Amino acid sequence: MEKFVVTGGKPLFGEVNISGAKNAAVAIIPAVILCDEPCTIENIPNISDVTLISRILQQMGAKVRRINKSTLYIDPTHISSSSATTDLVRGMRASYYLLGALLGKYGKAKVALPGGCNFGVRPIDQHLKGFEALGAETRLVDGAIIEVECDEEEGLVGTHIYLDVVSVGATMNIMLAASRAKGLTVIENAAKEPHIVDLANFLNSMGADVRGAGTDVIKIRGVSCMHGVTYSIIPDQIEAGTYMCAAAATRGCITINNITPKHLESISAKFREMGVKITEYDEAIIFDATKKPLKRVNIKTMPHPGFPTDCQPQFTALLMSVPGTSIVNENVWDNRYQYISELIRMGAHISVEGRLAIIEGGTPLTAAPVRATDLRAGAAMIVAALEIKGTTEITDIQYIERGYEDVVEKFKALGADIKKVYFNESSEELRA
Ligand code: EPU
Repeated sequence: MEKFVVTGGKPLFGEVNISGAKNAAVAIIPAVILCDEPCTIENIPNISDVTLISRILQQMGAKVRRINKSTLYIDPTHISSSSATTDLVRGMRASYYLLGALLGKYGKAKVALPGGCNFGVRPIDQHLKGFEALGAETRLVDGAIIEVECDEEEGLVGTHIYLDVVSVGATMNIMLAASRAKGLTVIENAAKEPHIVDLANFLNSMGADVRGAGTDVIKIRGVSCMHGVTYSIIPDQIEAGTYMCAAAATRGCITINNITPKHLESISAKFREMGVKITEYDEAIIFDATKKPLKRVNIKTMPHPGFPTDCQPQFTALLMSVPGTSIVNENVWDNRYQYISELIRMGAHISVEGRLAIIEGGTPLTAAPVRATDLRAGAAMIVAALEIKGTTEITDIQYIERGYEDVVEKFKALGADIKKVYFNESSEELRA
């Protein structure tokens, strides 16, 4: 087993390069299924979620080759089945994008239902409602597999779909299926995240006709074929937000490269409110938290362009170090506070009341053994550990490695004292 050992208390200084966006990659890789030729995808993050979705495509017959660390060549022309029901599929939330891609390409799909998640129930009713509106029948088989299928003659037929909740996954999944349906599909109350625009750009580059991505009405006119392309994925705004939180938590000053500053607006606005100086360039920012004492703030997570829920745990960890009372309102997920009990082990004064977390910041913190309860919770543990002068051990780091490329190397380059240690079940350290 592996853990991170972090000795904090030192400000971060230096430069970090942000990788491609995880949540764009896990949709764009299955989207290649829709294409009638091979594609090359650049700026792919080298993370375990990408390895997993690539293996799933391989199991289905696609040829997937890593040309270099950040480039994947995917040839979908040998896919022999519209079925994906292995344990690998079950182990990955984003495998639900296989439903939209396979349905769009083959008119049917059989996909294992993704397992539960560490922050509660994650329904996909809006995805299924969209597929049904396009003319597919949906069935849950044995509580474990979702089957969707449209009439062979009729195919999928474009329609109006109003999403009852703003859902990133449902918006993208319906875009995938509709991009090869007959006629026009209109998605209303669509999500507007940067990765939605990225998926639309990718589909359009292959010959699809998707308009309005980035607004709450997306129009998709189906096409009958798609051609191969080389496409580069957008930078990961949540990875960038995580390094911002860590730099602020240690009162450091870092340059963050390979980003789109516009995608970070809601996060940057909060940091400016706290007193951080942010200087923006075309594809980089200088983030300086050394100038003034940081001020307490409140945050409320919202769908884009609001403050992203995927930065909430890291921001909460930062707020532990800021004197005064800050209030976090988690407005996207019902139950994304499991990690707070880990922060409390470090001495945090945080209480949770429904959707609110109330943080009494600036109290003394001490190092403690903590767990990464999910991906962003794990990132929050790193931010917290960097604040504390002692040595913190973080276990269950496989969650962190699902979504952060070279996290140890990147933090080390910023001057952090962090290492990955291998240990056996009886906690004996084997090698660093
Ligand atoms: N929802 C429904 N029905 C649905 C779909 C969603 O009620 O059919 C609800 C959810 O329960 C939630 C809200 O709508 O309360 C938003 O969920 P959404 O569908 O937008 O989430 P998702 O697509 O499953 C993606 C990211 C998450 C991120 C959310 C919100 C991927 C693979 N995952 O999930 O990322 O938190 O959007 O931005 O893109 C992460 O990266 O750590 C992560 C969890």
